[in-house]
Amino acid sequence: MNSIEDIKKELLAANCKTQEEFEAFRVKYISRKSIFAELFSRMMNVPDSEKKAYGQNINELKNLAHDKFKALAANLDSESEVSKAPYDLTLPSSKGKIGSQHPITIVRNRIIEIFEKIGFNISHGPEIEDDWHNFTALNFPPNHPAREMQDTFFIKKDPDIALRTHTSSVQIRVMENTKPPIRTLCPGRVFRNEAISARAHCIFHQVEGFYVNKNVSFVDLKQTLFHFAKEMFGKDTKVRYRPSYFPFTEPSAEIDISCNICKGDGCNICKYTGWLEIAGSGMIDPNVFENCKIDPDKYTGFAFGMGIERIAMLKWEINDLRLFTENDIRFLDQFKSF
Ligand code: PHE
Repeated sequence: MNSIEDIKKELLAANCKTQEEFEAFRVKYISRKSIFAELFSRMMNVPDSEKKAYGQNINELKNLAHDKFKALAANLDSESEVSKAPYDLTLPSSKGKIGSQHPITIVRNRIIEIFEKIGFNISHGPEIEDDWHNFTALNFPPNHPAREMQDTFFIKKDPDIALRTHTSSVQIRVMENTKPPIRTLCPGRVFRNEAISARAHCIFHQVEGFYVNKNVSFVDLKQTLFHFAKEMFGKDTKVRYRPSYFPFTEPSAEIDISCNICKGDGCNICKYTGWLEIAGSGMIDPNVFENCKIDPDKYTGFAFGMGIERIAMLKWEINDLRLFTENDIRFLDQFKSF
C-alpha cells in the first residue's frame, strides 16, 4: 500500500480524458470500495497517540479526492459531445401536439353509446351498393320519382352500382341475413350528388337504427327516439313527429326536437319555428319485409335515419357543413369531448 504522501501526489496529478478513465478514478477514490476504506481499516494498527493525526490526514485526502472528482467531471463535460454540439442539447424539447377526435367521431360514438344502453348492437354495410340494397328492396319502384329524391353517384349502369345514398341499405343487408328479433344501429358514410355549400355536402354521415320483433308499434318508435333526444340534447327537450313520406316506411314521420338554442322562442337556427328536424323515421313497410323474406304478418318494426353532421351542428351551433371536411386544426381542436 502506498503512503499517504504518494496517494496525495497521484491524486493531484490525476487527469482523465475519457469516460472510462473517469470511471476508474471514481472506483478508486470515491466508491464504497475506494482506497479510503482500506486506509481507514488500517487505523487499528496505528498507535493510539498517532490515531488522531492519521485520521485527519485521511479525511483531508478524502476531501481532496472529492474536489478533484468534481473538477474532473466538469472538465470531462466541457470536452464532451454534448457541449461540442452547435446547439444547446439540454434545452427542453418543444411540446408534441396531442390530437383530438373529429367532432363527427365524437357525436357518432355518443349516439352509439346512447342506443347501446337500450339494447342496440352495431351493423355495417358497404359504401358501394347495388340497386337492390340501396333502392329496389327498399320499395323504390323502377322509374318512380322517389328515386329522384336522392341524386346518386353511379359507378356503373345496368346493372346499377352506386355509392350508397343512405344507410337504409344496411337495413336490407341485415334483414336478409338475420332472423328477428333485430335491434341494430348502422353508422356510416353516405354520398349524394349535391353542390357543396354551407348546408349541403356530397359526402356526409348517417346513423340508421331499426328494431324488428313481434308487436313492435309506433309507440316503441316514439319512446325510443324520445329517449335519444333527451340523452343527446338534455332532459327538457321536447319531441314532435311530423307526417312524412319514405318509400320504405308506412306510416312515416319526420322527427323534430324543440330548439335547444332559443328554447322555442324562435331564432335563425330554427328559422323562427322553435323546432329542429333531426331524423326521418317510420314503421317498416311490409313490402320491405317481404323483400328480405321476413313474414310481415308475424313481425313489425320501426326504422329511423339521422345525419351525424346535423346532430353535431345543432349540438355545437356549427353553421357551415364544410368545416367538417376542411381539416382546419383551429376548428377541429375545439372538440375535446362532449
Ligand atoms: N333513409 C332516409 C334518408 O336518408 C332516412 C330514413 C331512415 C327514413 C329510416 C325512414 C326510416 O333520408
